[in-house]
Amino acid sequence: MPANPSPLAAPTAEDHRAWYHVQSAALAHDRPGEPVPSQAAVRAGLTTTGSRRQLVLWLLRGSGDEPVATAVLRLSGTAADGSGTDGPADVQMTVHPAHRRLGTGSRLLATVTEAATAAGCASLAAEAVSGTPGEGFLATRDFVPVTRLTWQRLALDDIPDPVGKLPDVPHPGYRLTAWEGAVPDTLTDGFLGALRALPTPAAGLDTGGCRWDPAAVHEAAELAARRGDRLLTVAALHDGGDVAGYTTVLLPGDGARRAQQHDTAVVPAHRGHGLGLWMKAEMLRRLPAVQPDLAEIHTCVPDDNRHLLAVNTSLGFRPLRRTVRFRLRLRRR
Ligand SMILES: CC(C)(COP(=O)(O)OP(=O)(O)OC[C@H]1O[C@@H](n2cnc3c(N)ncnc32)[C@H](O)[C@@H]1OP(=O)(O)O)[C@@H](O)C(=O)NCCC(=O)NCCS
Repeated sequence: MPANPSPLAAPTAEDHRAWYHVQSAALAHDRPGEPVPSQAAVRAGLTTTGSRRQLVLWLLRGSGDEPVATAVLRLSGTAADGSGTDGPADVQMTVHPAHRRLGTGSRLLATVTEAATAAGCASLAAEAVSGTPGEGFLATRDFVPVTRLTWQRLALDDIPDPVGKLPDVPHPGYRLTAWEGAVPDTLTDGFLGALRALPTPAAGLDTGGCRWDPAAVHEAAELAARRGDRLLTVAALHDGGDVAGYTTVLLPGDGARRAQQHDTAVVPAHRGHGLGLWMKAEMLRRLPAVQPDLAEIHTCVPDDNRHLLAVNTSLGFRPLRRTVRFRLRLRRR
């Protein structure tokens, strides 16, 4: 391992293969029984980023040049704009299972923390699967747990029969609509109004409906298209013209049979009418026609979002794993 790991300036095809070697081995080890993403998907996540995201990558190799560990530091907001360096940051570090407990993780974390501090970040977030070494690793390095999350899986074959009828249940004053990619022009104002009416999500998490930022939502659609993925949205429209809520699902473009549920949100003035369940049931009804070989959907929900957990359980989602989101406060320079 190099004494002073430096970031990858311009990753080569061989760097991407080495990166995937670490990722696929670690995921197979740390999440047994779960599908490992394809190399194309992992590569797209590193090379196709939004304008408000800046990734700093480290790839560590052993004495025989074998890939040992990876780290990705995600800078966002003003830090990535270049107009300032005080945005939030998060890190995902992975040590190949055959190379753990040798100090690599500690050295990598010191390097990443230094880089985030130098970029002017106030804090560094990281997530680890509950009960794995990653949780203890972060907890003993001054990271503070801020949110616990439940990851859930829904096998499309296991959707309870009554769910198929839910979209037809009338919700007086409301109707459902759907689109793929960016929001259609006719709904742009209503959609942006809905996003602005949503309260700031706790802990700024990007889960279970936590990206109430018009520019970020617009960019998510554009990013999905550039990666070859498809972003589907189902929304509930109120007779008064409001977009009352929406739910989005990301369909993979690499042939994987697993979709990712992204945001689900109902504007506070329209809550209590069962719109969350209604919209998500409509999404489930549409998916087989949109991507016939799809087998399952994954999502994650902060544990304090009881409503969304209840909605997902009714739809047939089952727990997959639990994670803890940590934050480390960085000293300002
Ligand atoms: C967490 C991870 C990065 C640690 O990498 P590592 O190279 O093994 O870390 P280190 O060798 O520097 O270990 C540092 C300390 O972490 C703790 N730790 C690491 N593995 C542990 C385990 N299996 N059980 C208990 N403590 C453990 C210990 O305190 C250890 O110090 P010690 O070996 O002196 O007891 C690695 O296990 C990993 O890649 N896990 C999967 C991804 C992940 O959870 N990343 C963290 C969130 S970004």
